[in-house]
Amino acid sequence: MIEGESDLARNNALTSKAGLTLGESQKGFDKWAPTYDQDSLVHGYSAHLLASKYLCDVIPPDSRATSRVLDIGAGSGLVAKELCSNGFKKIDALDPNESMLKYAREQNLYEKYYLEFITAQPTSIPESTYDAVTGSGIYAANNYVPSVVIHEIIRVVKPGGYVVLVARNMLFGPGQPYEQLEPLMAILEKNGKWKQVHRDILPSAYFTKLNIDAIVWVYRKL
Ligand SMILES: C[S@@+](CC[C@H](N)C(=O)[O-])C[C@H]1O[C@@H](n2cnc3c(N)ncnc32)[C@H](O)[C@@H]1O
Repeated sequence: MIEGESDLARNNALTSKAGLTLGESQKGFDKWAPTYDQDSLVHGYSAHLLASKYLCDVIPPDSRATSRVLDIGAGSGLVAKELCSNGFKKIDALDPNESMLKYAREQNLYEKYYLEFITAQPTSIPESTYDAVTGSGIYAANNYVPSVVIHEIIRVVKPGGYVVLVARNMLFGPGQPYEQLEPLMAILEKNGKWKQVHRDILPSAYFTKLNIDAIVWVYRKL
């Protein structure tokens, strides 16, 4: 076992284990917040790097400083840190957890902080606000971000804007906690809401040192 792996496993169990309520999972994030970056990065957590890489692929360097990006489940700000170093300047965070956001605030990574859950109900964000919306590490065995949230994600993106989602591949497919997500994504594409740009399964790319595969979706809102 890699040193510290048991900490990561314990924190994952506190925040993301199947059956945990939203409140229980949030209490878990309160406990995990001070060591979240260290615990994650020591095991090669790379979802934030993938989110940034795929966003950079669709948003050219000369548009990045003016593009408005929403980071759902922003946490301590790992995604924004990467985006900032790639030229993005207008990034907002949405996350209900002040303990996690505290670390992002200390680094001045976001313009706005929406301290709220994303759910099936509309958030306080107006329709068609963002050039891109991203979410890295927002899908978990206890469904703290449920599949139906995809409607709300699409609502807040501008037509022509992008959605970039990065997750553990093991959570999707038949019998898995998010078995409904990809069929829903496909229905929305069939209904002309958005168009798939990428769907990549990347071996060992979620936690590179734990051989946990990533899945990345990029969609363009129509
Ligand atoms: C595993 S962390 C990922 C943080 C960051 N995106 C990253 O890649 O490091 C998950 C974050 O999602 C947040 N979260 C949980 N449920 C949420 C919801 N329904 N809406 C928005 N954020 C949520 C948690 O508070 C936590 O900060």
